[in-house]
Amino acid sequence: MTEVEKGVQTVLVTEEEIRQRLCELGKEVSAVYQGQDLLLVTLLKGAVVFLADFMRALECHCEIDFLVTSSFGGGAMKIIKDLEVPIEGRHVLIVEDILDSGIKLSKIKDMLEARNPASVRIVTLLDKPSRRKADVNADFTGFVIPDEFVVGYGLDYDEKYRNLPFVGVLKPEVYTG
Ligand code: IMP
Ligand code: MG
Repeated sequence: MTEVEKGVQTVLVTEEEIRQRLCELGKEVSAVYQGQDLLLVTLLKGAVVFLADFMRALECHCEIDFLVTSSFGGGAMKIIKDLEVPIEGRHVLIVEDILDSGIKLSKIKDMLEARNPASVRIVTLLDKPSRRKADVNADFTGFVIPDEFVVGYGLDYDEKYRNLPFVGVLKPEVYTG
């Protein structure tokens, strides 16, 4: 067992389950965007692992770009790194690791929609619908999970555990030190 795996209490989604689901998701999403001008917009950093596997499961053409925003309380969202390309008239698919309260994604979706793209949809690896506060839902979802704080496959606790190849729940002692 690696030092990273030692922090994990339970595995929620295995590597094999992720691999199989991404294969299905790739086919589902490709059918929608066949022949269209698709831009995958990924929010750094959590969604990078998902993006890398998801884009290779796509059977249609796509381009990628990255967006970095500040974390925010009740205030305005600040763009730390904007997209490099204009999105007017293009089909945008936001690639996200986890949809939780939905506050962050609803703000990002509004911001992108204001730039007059042909469409804005969301694909998320994980969805915790029981936690939703904002009026936003994913168009494509990998796995619906219960209300637990998860790490791995890009998701972090205090910037660590992103490199686990599966999604898991941490041991309580990791939080309590
Ligand atoms: P929200 O949907 O606006 O609440 O924010 C979602 C963001 O919170 C995600 O992009 C993650 O960075 C983070 N997040 C939410 N739930 C978890 C979790 O269970 N593990 C790790 N990060 C999480
Ligand atoms: Mg995080």
